[in-house]
Amino acid sequence: MSRLIRIFDTTLRDGEQSPGAAMNLDEKLMVAKQLARLGVDIIEAGFAYSSPGDFEAVRRIAHEVEGPTICSLARARPEDIDRAWEALKGAPKVRIHTFISTSDIHLKHQFRLTREQARQRAVEMVARARGYVEDVEFSPMDATRSDPKYLYEVLEAVIAAGATTVNIPDTVGYAAPQEFGRLIRGIRENVPNIKKAVISVHCHNDLGVAVANSLAAIVEGAGQVECTINGIGERAGNASLEEIAMGLRTRKDFYGADTRIVTEEIVKSSRLVSKITGMVVQPNKAIVGANAFAHASGIHQDGLLKEKTTYEIMRPESVGLNKSTLVMGKLSGRHAFKQRLEDMGYKLADDELNKAFERFKRLADQKKEVYEEDLEAIVAEELQTIPETYRFKSLHVESGTDMTPTARIELEIDGKVAQQTGTGDGPVDAAYRTIAAMTQTKSTLLTYAVKAITGGTDAQGEVMVKVEEGPKTVTGHGADTDIIVASAKAYLNALNKIAYWKSRKDDAPKIHYI
Ligand code: KIV
Ligand code: ZN
Repeated sequence: MSRLIRIFDTTLRDGEQSPGAAMNLDEKLMVAKQLARLGVDIIEAGFAYSSPGDFEAVRRIAHEVEGPTICSLARARPEDIDRAWEALKGAPKVRIHTFISTSDIHLKHQFRLTREQARQRAVEMVARARGYVEDVEFSPMDATRSDPKYLYEVLEAVIAAGATTVNIPDTVGYAAPQEFGRLIRGIRENVPNIKKAVISVHCHNDLGVAVANSLAAIVEGAGQVECTINGIGERAGNASLEEIAMGLRTRKDFYGADTRIVTEEIVKSSRLVSKITGMVVQPNKAIVGANAFAHASGIHQDGLLKEKTTYEIMRPESVGLNKSTLVMGKLSGRHAFKQRLEDMGYKLADDELNKAFERFKRLADQKKEVYEEDLEAIVAEELQTIPETYRFKSLHVESGTDMTPTARIELEIDGKVAQQTGTGDGPVDAAYRTIAAMTQTKSTLLTYAVKAITGGTDAQGEVMVKVEEGPKTVTGHGADTDIIVASAKAYLNALNKIAYWKSRKDDAPKIHYI
């Protein structure tokens, strides 16, 4: 019998702290619903006190997403604990996660507290959280650079005060796997009441060993792992959920442990998070990279043709990477389209469905074969609820080796149709300069990436951009069989997000750790 390891997903909290990965409320809800389908045990939906946007995200996710326990982060301060409870109250399965540093470096330079003051604050805040909820997690931040003896004392005290999970963060990604495993063993052996709590780990990837550290901790008895989809997170990121889940599932013989993750949902979750955050997954990334299951060398291909297990330790289907399945064609009706989306896990409201169906029909006219990935791109755009201050209407570009690239763009701006022509270094540059002039944007384009959604020269191109204006960085994406049109849509999607954020009053900057 394998031991059950709980998966605590922090894509929406620590993952969202990645530069440029901020998500709006609808995007967070979409990700949270996918995490529920993926089978995670706990979703850290945000840090309720940090901003009105985070508060609302925690509240809506806690009330609307069924299955996982929903958690809010809270500093070890009364106002944070109270705010976390306000966001969570009334929801069925909730947790408050409170934290304070235990390393002398942090206590002296950042928190300006003595060890005793920090211990006392941790105990008081855990008790306060327990006054609201049964399920309380405590993290001694920078645990891996803390004096282990002091760490044991703090853990014993917070468990006595009611903490049901004690999470050991390698906040700065400093630990080595054997050393981190030893720390977990030390906690098991030296904290007298440790059996009353689940030991969790939370590893950052600064030295590239976040997953290795998490697995080493599982070997030493950790029962919960904190991780993110695609490993996104502060700096070099957090431990990647898909690597941990597949590591345990594939090597159950070695770890004797497994998770409840529905691994067939992994690729879909990865693509959704990448699309929403604009953080492209590197091709050689384990489990979800484009090349993760691609065998290029002749000798490997020869072996695979004879027997899959010669070079394949996991089946691509086990992570949801099915051979692109042809789903629909030109003659498919609205009912079949709706059914197909429901099978893929998307329930659209009637008006969204009508718009998505119209787009599907147009696509099916341009492209002989429409695959599941094409439908995902359509749905992702239709589910966008950012108001369209700038709406794409049409585009005409002329470009070639012996002429100045020119773009004529037609947009609807605040309900009025406008047209303008401009030039640039290439067709995309001409289109972007013209759009920038028409929308009078002061933003800067930081990144631009294009990829084909499926194979073939008639494939839809998907463009992701990252755009910065003042302190705000947003991502935009667009898909079309014409990559210049996809580029224009992606840029407008980003500009619409900036316009929306500017119009909102509740988008106060987030409070971070102290
Ligand atoms: O990395 C860290 O220490 C954290 C804590 C808030 C758990 O994210
Ligand atoms: Zn962290």
